[in-house]
Amino acid sequence: MSHNTIAINQRMNKFDGHKSVWLFGYGSLIFKADFPYLDRRPAHIGGWSRRFWQGSHDHRGTETAPGRVVTLVPDAGALCHGMAYLVTPEEFAHLDHREKNGYLRLATEMHFDDGSSDEGIVYIATHENEAYLGPADEIDIARQIATARGPSGPNSEYLLGLAQALRELGKPDPHVFALERHLADFGVTQLRA
Ligand code: BEZ
Repeated sequence: MSHNTIAINQRMNKFDGHKSVWLFGYGSLIFKADFPYLDRRPAHIGGWSRRFWQGSHDHRGTETAPGRVVTLVPDAGALCHGMAYLVTPEEFAHLDHREKNGYLRLATEMHFDDGSSDEGIVYIATHENEAYLGPADEIDIARQIATARGPSGPNSEYLLGLAQALRELGKPDPHVFALERHLADFGVTQLRA
């Protein structure tokens, strides 16, 4: 599948006619929503784990030195915690563009802290996209993140921001926290304000 997923995503019509749709954020969306939203709530989805397995050559790296950002991988019984945003359907055009490097919209049920749930959209980059890097030793992933930088800034800023946001949510993620510790071993500990 080519890097650019905009056209595929725009063919998704499941929520056509809806006035608002939930979007599940599990990466930078947890701490940086650069779009208007109607509501925002901590949420989780079932059957997925967050992994730094997606390559980023357009945001947190370059074509020659890609960074690593998160995607979700199927994991029976696992819960992925993040932040859900209630948005108008027009916001998806912006998100499709921002996440065009391999992420596809998927309809999913999301669960809120008050016990309620609703169906919405999550963006997932599967192993079929060209930018997918896949699993690697966590030390090697952290080494790559320590040095990569792209138009959106240092890759380390993305990892440290995500780790901090998960701590603030009270939802520790062993993979993210292990990478954060390895990053510290490489001397990268500072999240710039
Ligand atoms: C997120 O930050 O949750 C996100 C990750 C990948 C694609 C879109 C959003």
